[in-house]
Formats: sequence, C-alpha cells, structure tokens
Amino acid sequence: HKGGYDHFMIKEIHEQPRIIRESNSTSIHSGVKDAELSGILSLDPPPSILILACGTSYHAGLIAKYLVEELLGLSVNVELASEFNYHRHRTPEALAIVITQSGETADALLAMRRLREHGTKLLAITNVPGCTASRLADETWYTGAGPEISVAATKSFTAQLKVIYRLLLSCSRLERRDFDRLTLALRLLPSAIQGVLDNQLEIRSCAKYLASCSGVIFIGRGLNYPIALEGALKLKEVAYIPSQGYAAGELKHGPLALVSKTTPVVAVLGRDTTHDAMLTTLREIKVRGAPLIAIAPKGDDGLDGLADYIIPRPEVDNLVSPMLNAVVLQLLAYYTALELGCPIDMPRNLAKSVTVE
Ligand code: M6R
Repeated sequence: HKGGYDHFMIKEIHEQPRIIRESNSTSIHSGVKDAELSGILSLDPPPSILILACGTSYHAGLIAKYLVEELLGLSVNVELASEFNYHRHRTPEALAIVITQSGETADALLAMRRLREHGTKLLAITNVPGCTASRLADETWYTGAGPEISVAATKSFTAQLKVIYRLLLSCSRLERRDFDRLTLALRLLPSAIQGVLDNQLEIRSCAKYLASCSGVIFIGRGLNYPIALEGALKLKEVAYIPSQGYAAGELKHGPLALVSKTTPVVAVLGRDTTHDAMLTTLREIKVRGAPLIAIAPKGDDGLDGLADYIIPRPEVDNLVSPMLNAVVLQLLAYYTALELGCPIDMPRNLAKSVTVE
C-alpha cells in the first residue's frame, strides 16, 4: 500500500496535488458557505480568536494568524497547546480554532477541555473523522487528506492550510476582490505543486549536499516565516540534522553568530513586500561565507551571484506560496534522510500521535 513508493512519506507528499484539487471542487467552486462559523467571524464588534496546536499543526496556525489578520482585519493569538495549558487564561476568547491532524494530541485536547469550561466556542480542524477533538468541538472542519501513515506530517499540513483558506473564503468579512484572488490562486495551486513534484533535480542535488552538514538554518519572513520553522522541523525529524528555523529579521539579534562556512542557510522567498529585506539578509549571510540555498519563484534575478543553490519553484500568488514552499522543504528533508539511510517513516523516539502530556 505504499503505492510503488519506497516510503509512506514520499507517497503522501505526492498525494498533495490531488487532495488540494479535490477540496477545490467540493467546497470552493460550489460556493458553499459554512454559515455558523462565518456567523461568528462576522460579529460586530469582532470576536477575539485564539489558535492552538502543536508541532506542524502549530505552523499552520501561525500562517492562519497572518492570513486572518491580513485579509479579515481581525487579531489572532496563536499558542502552542502545551504552553497554553500552563498559564492562567485571563480573557477567554470568543472563538478558539484547534488544529490537530490526529485529533488525539493530549495537549490540544486538554486545552479544548479548559476552553469549554470558559464558554469559548471551539472549532476543530482535523484529519480524522470521529476523533476526540471533533467530539469536543462545536464545529469540525475536516482536512480530508486521508490516513497519514508517515510520522512526519506532510499532506495533512497542506490540507490544513487549504481548510484555513476555505475558512477565509466562507467569511463575509473577506472583500470580494480578495475572495476572487484567493479562489483563483487555489485553483492554480495543484498544478504548481505538481510542477514541483515533476522537477526534483535541484532539490535532490541540494539534499545530497545537506546530508553532509551537521547543522542547517532555515529563514523566512512574513507568510513564509512559519514555513522556515516547518522546514527545520521536517529536517530534524526525518534526517536527524540539527536544524533551526528563524524569522529572517531575527538573525542579527543572535543566531547570526551560528552562521559560518559550514552552516548552510536555507532561505524561503516569496514575491512580496518582504523580498528586498530577505535579499539584504542573504547578503549579510553571504559575507559570512555561509552556503546559501534559496527557494524562490522562477526567474528571481536578485539571487544571481548570491545563492549557491537556487531551487526555483513555479510562480503562484504569494498568498498561497506557503503551501508550495512547504512541498519543496518536505522533499528536501525526505531526500536528505534518504541519503543518510534514516528510517524515514518512523523516526526514532517519535510517535504519530502524541497522546500523553
Ligand atoms: O496530530 P497533531 O496535528 O495534533 O500532531 C501535532 C504534532 O505532534 C505533529 O504535527 C508533529 O509535529 C509531526 N510529527 C511533525 O511532522
């Protein structure tokens, strides 16, 4: 049932265009509005929103915060469920969105039970029908990625992001032009992801190089900052290489001290307002002699003579670029782990769902 692939991880990575395409046709094209939730998000004054999650799902939460604030003009707090459970919650939010692939993560469930006591409305985003999170929630949105066997979350992450975009689309606060822009961007996304899957040459040669490294730094800015965190998590999880993700602007506040000729930096770029600031950071890194790997839309001239490896990816609307960049970083982690002979689907010390605190 690995469908001809060597590992579930790579099989699941390849399922992503289909999963994204299928959810396009069912939910977005039909223009279905999920009335209850958009009701809450449309309240005046605006509701306070909390997002809770762990691991990869937390990274989806960070992207959701950015999108909801940018496109709906609402403010959002995102917390790691494990941290949320250990401090006093002073002002219960009207709505909490809990993102959990398995729906069984103990930290997330505990947080849901605490919030219920405060009367917060709970929305679960999960991949497993009938899971505990869905039973605790007032409303559940399923990611529909199908069973994810590999411990490393891949297709469930992009499917979570897809649900988050659907959530935005269902909200009457979203302006018409952003609705149209996002709808189009999502429609074009599956073939862009397929484009990444069909062109793995640069990714594989870069993975060969990374396999010889003892530490890797990932950086991003704006929407792609959480993707830098996710890329680092994937690499440490499946290839056991110490990897750290940073907001690019934070490098000079400390992590730049780590940068050296033997510490490569993987930079995740988009074509947006953060682009010039990213290039400035890349120049600072270059001066320190660190090998630079840039993941960027095809034809980014700013990188010529700057990056040692350029992994060009298809052009997409920047709003959905995290999904595409995530796929590149999943492949990078997978092939690095493959080079190193790691037990990719079942990394040491980890379990698919973490049902203890
Ligand atoms: O099932 P959940 O989404 O609640 O799981 C959260 C994390 O345990 C999970 O995302 C973990 O970080 C992954 N193994 C990362 O690939």
